Amino acid sequence: MIEFQNVSYEHQKGNGVNNLCFKIDDGEFTFLIGPTGSGKTTLMRLVYFDIIPQTGSVIVNEYSSEKMSNRKIPKARQSIGMVFQDYKLLKDRNLFENTALPLHVLGFPVNEIPERVEETLELVGLDGKDKHFPHELSGGEQQRACLARAIIKEPDLLLADEPTGNLDPVASFELVRLLETIHETGTTVLMASHNYNLIKGRGHPILELKEGILRGN
Ligand SMILES: Nc1ncnc2c1ncn2[C@@H]1O[C@H](COP(=O)(O)OP(=O)(O)OP(=O)(O)O)[C@@H](O)[C@H]1O
Ligand SMILES: [Mg+2]
Repeated sequence: MIEFQNVSYEHQKGNGVNNLCFKIDDGEFTFLIGPTGSGKTTLMRLVYFDIIPQTGSVIVNEYSSEKMSNRKIPKARQSIGMVFQDYKLLKDRNLFENTALPLHVLGFPVNEIPERVEETLELVGLDGKDKHFPHELSGGEQQRACLARAIIKEPDLLLADEPTGNLDPVASFELVRLLETIHETGTTVLMASHNYNLIKGRGHPILELKEGILRGN
């Protein structure tokens, strides 16, 4: 589902990722770990075609970074759900509207949207908060709102960038369990975290980044 071939990306002021090579098969649950600044978000953005590598190629499903164009990006992202480290919730829309947005974009039947939103908010533990605007949600609630928005379209691939960054240990553990439940329904999951304790011993493959380089490479 995901293949990186000798991928390098350098940000404008230096730093980034260097010569990454790996593959993630369909249906896998993979953890991406590494200290702060090691390049996890950069790698996630490459998978989401938010940035295009300067060298090498990123292949996600049938899409390649080498043939990517602005016109193709929405199509390439159609089957990808992304939980952003900095949420990116729309401030002037309430939780219901933020969560429903991807369904509107996909042209989902409008009369089926409320039920789908309700189910998704219940799944992430935010039922009853649908009228709240982002600033009326706690940090952890905003994080779960971001997860709801990412999973509502039932993507084939779920990218979760530090999805437990604002959660206490119990809620973090529950969130990983929830991602595992989503994975059990057939979704490929890539989750980035610098919290090794949260992910160790769960039997999932681990990609380890250090200063922009994958360990073992
Ligand atoms: N937009 C940007 N412009 C310039 N440099 C950037 C940009 N984004 C990230 N960097 C730099 O690239 C490096 C990797 O950053 P990245 O955000 O990928 O790390 P990370 O592993 O996600 O860290 P964290 O755990 O803190 O989220 C860092 O040194 C950072 O300063
Ligand atoms: Mg990051």
